[in-house]
Amino acid sequence: MLVQEYFNTRKNLVETALDKFLSAEDIKTKQLHEAMRYAVFNGGKRLRPILFFATYEMLIGRKNINRLERLLPAACSLEMIHSASLIHDDLPIIDNSRERRGKPSCHIKFGDATAILAGDALITLAFEILTEIKNRKTALKCIDILTQAVSTRGMIGGQAVDILSAKRKINLNTLRYIHLKKTGALLQASMELACTIYEAEENVTITLGNFALNLGLAYQIVDDILDEVGSFDILGREPGEDSRNNKAPYSALMGLEKSKKTAEKLLRDSYNLIKNMKNNDILIEFVNMIKERLP
Ligand code: IPE
Ligand code: IPE
Ligand code: MG
Ligand code: MG
Ligand code: MG
Repeated sequence: MLVQEYFNTRKNLVETALDKFLSAEDIKTKQLHEAMRYAVFNGGKRLRPILFFATYEMLIGRKNINRLERLLPAACSLEMIHSASLIHDDLPIIDNSRERRGKPSCHIKFGDATAILAGDALITLAFEILTEIKNRKTALKCIDILTQAVSTRGMIGGQAVDILSAKRKINLNTLRYIHLKKTGALLQASMELACTIYEAEENVTITLGNFALNLGLAYQIVDDILDEVGSFDILGREPGEDSRNNKAPYSALMGLEKSKKTAEKLLRDSYNLIKNMKNNDILIEFVNMIKERLP
């Protein structure tokens, strides 16, 4: 199967399931429901669910879309958390981004209050749908993994330190912490959820978790670089947001060229962690895709 076909089919699969999980019957408040759907369906790449599928399918050793049904709650929960994080990230009191994915941000379209609640509602819905996993032990483990990834020790903690870093001089270790938590934690959870559902050996889960953290760090360094020198087409909004918010991106601390080198090194490290695994083609594609985003 062509890599592009893999990405398209898995993207369609998760979007069809998201459409069901976000069906109008479940949520009575019309405007809130519209805001939730708007934030989820305004054109995301669906990288986290696809990374989750790719990990599971690598471990099980076959690519067969008909066998992925039972994975849909976990796949959708990852995208709901991600969408919620972006709604909140764009708010005037955080990054003040008026555009997301080339369209008005959720709060521009629905107002700040509804946007805050839409984010909250997506986070709680993500955990609610994880309870649909049939095997109780697996469901509980998945909830635990996602909780850690979203918590003060994960994505929310990363965003909190990111916010505190504005207008301050921070060192590279703090920036690494921010990147690992705000972006790395959810990518790590994407792979760990797949390992848990597959019941992978602990050492495999640890290796793949480290792969995801390297990938997350690289992804966020590239995101910072693109914010500085990228275009509207790649970003889905005007560049220069970090400097407008007085945030020091990676390149401010170590220069553009060295930042690119660091991202490339992290991607090489990621590749080395999985290069000897069987059926690793889609994971390798993730590494290449991030490399190709580098300007
Ligand atoms: C954007 O993530 C936020 C970061 C973690 C840099 P994505 O690049 O995955 O965003 P979408 O979902 O495809 O828009
Ligand atoms: C977003 O980081 C990370 C999370 C929402 C968890 P950024 O603020 O750098 O993402 P963009 O640049 O707005 O997409
Ligand atoms: Mg931000
Ligand atoms: Mg932002
Ligand atoms: Mg950014």
